Amino acid sequence: MKVAPSIIAAKFTDYQEEIVRVEKAGADLLHLDVMDGVFVPNITFGPMIVEAINEISTIDLDAHLMIAKPENYLKQFIDAGLDWISFHCEATKKTDECIRYIQERGVKAGLAINPPTSFDRIKEYVEKLDYLLIMTVNPGFYGQQFIADVLSKIEEAKDWMTKHKLRCLIEVDGGINATNAALVCQAGADIVVAGAGIFKSSDYRKAVEELRCSKA
Ligand code: DX5
Ligand code: ZN
Repeated sequence: MKVAPSIIAAKFTDYQEEIVRVEKAGADLLHLDVMDGVFVPNITFGPMIVEAINEISTIDLDAHLMIAKPENYLKQFIDAGLDWISFHCEATKKTDECIRYIQERGVKAGLAINPPTSFDRIKEYVEKLDYLLIMTVNPGFYGQQFIADVLSKIEEAKDWMTKHKLRCLIEVDGGINATNAALVCQAGADIVVAGAGIFKSSDYRKAVEELRCSKA
């Protein structure tokens, strides 16, 4: 599995150093959690900070937009230098337009789904997506408890993709640690996001390796 550390859990006063450290530890993507205080009850950062992170980082930037009406901000985020962008199906009525807009600009498009949202609800979009971001916590904060009930949805999505020969990747996000990463991997995840699981550990390299190689 690929590992995408979520810098929301890093030490903000040492951002530059934290990004360099986690890249040296073997991170594949840098996960940027964008929260607007409307779609989720927390606020993080916007395109200006993404642009600054892009100047520091040498690996692909994977933004997870937890914002209402993402269609209004896609241009700014793409201009800031993102490589992957996911937005929530629960946050817009313009899912098709958003996917198309992102992909036409050479950026990978992902659709994020919250724990209570069924796979059925977003099935029709999967063939168009570069990746599906399946949340294993209700979004808004890092360091929450992994919701194991979502494992069956990961399996359902994986089965559907295999059956229909779709090349959409599955990214799983929320409460991932060395223990549950094995279950997520077995269920079909291609990429795992981890905030606290990496940045609150004393050895980033060991944490990244444990997530990447986990087997159930
Ligand atoms: C939750 C975010 C996640 C989260 C990851 O709203 O989308 O990316 O911060 O952090 P952990 O791994 O600590 O749950
Ligand atoms: Zn996230």
